[in-house]
Amino acid sequence: HNGKINIAIDGPAGAGKSTIARMVAKRLGYVYVDSGAMYRAVTWHMLQLNIEPENAEKVLQEAQNLVIELIPDEQGQKVLANGEDVTADIRSLTVNRIVSRYAQIEGLRVKLASLQRQMALRKGVVMDGRDIGTHVLPDAELKIFMTATVQERARRRYAEMDASEGITLEQLEREIAERDQLDEQREFSPLVCAEDALVLDTTSMSIEQVSDHILTLAHTTLAGRV
Ligand code: CDP
Ligand code: CDP
Repeated sequence: HNGKINIAIDGPAGAGKSTIARMVAKRLGYVYVDSGAMYRAVTWHMLQLNIEPENAEKVLQEAQNLVIELIPDEQGQKVLANGEDVTADIRSLTVNRIVSRYAQIEGLRVKLASLQRQMALRKGVVMDGRDIGTHVLPDAELKIFMTATVQERARRRYAEMDASEGITLEQLEREIAERDQLDEQREFSPLVCAEDALVLDTTSMSIEQVSDHILTLAHTTLAGRV
């Protein structure tokens, strides 16, 4: 191997996974892979085509015609769906509200997990999601299960929004809790902490504290391998 490790970061919405994964990847000179963006891009595409998540067969059929690309850039990564830049569109409330229902579809999970594994073959990847440590990269050298209270996670997400989105903090908290529940209770590769993951509650930690902590863990893991 090239002396690099893979880092898996899983946990519920708003825990800080993508912010931290992006920073840690940058600091280590690794590649950041946002697996959730792939589920979001599929969701966006299916919404365009009016294909509901209940129609799993049609979703899978259409997913065959969809090419998703994650392209690293200054902000972290750009997301393309059949060549179209959907980076901003996939963050809409509409997508937030329905993505977990498409993510229940077993065939879709198999397909995306296989793409995600390919992206991590050469090591040096920080990947965040829900099932990375348990299912996508069970051999990742460092696994983090990142959490925070649902109140704090909603507060963080709320702070990112602008008033035009017309959602209250309370409503956002309910929607996040509902999505967590769907992700935790689905049959195939649900959101669950891997046995060998380190649990990190970030409720009262700053972004810098979390990022420094994971960087230290990464260096310790790397040192243990030589
Ligand atoms: O950024 P946020 O935590 O809100 O969500 P995300 O990471 O973009 O993921 C969006 C949704 O995709 C999750 O709520 C899951 O339903 C699904 N997902 C998944 O099932 N497995 C993954 N590895 C990543 C995301
Ligand atoms: O990817 P995930 O859904 O787990 O969370 P995120 O999108 O990385 O973080 C949600 C928001 O919380 C972002 O605006 C971060 O800047 C913020 N955040 C924070 O305030 N404190 C932390 N320790 C981590 C993230």
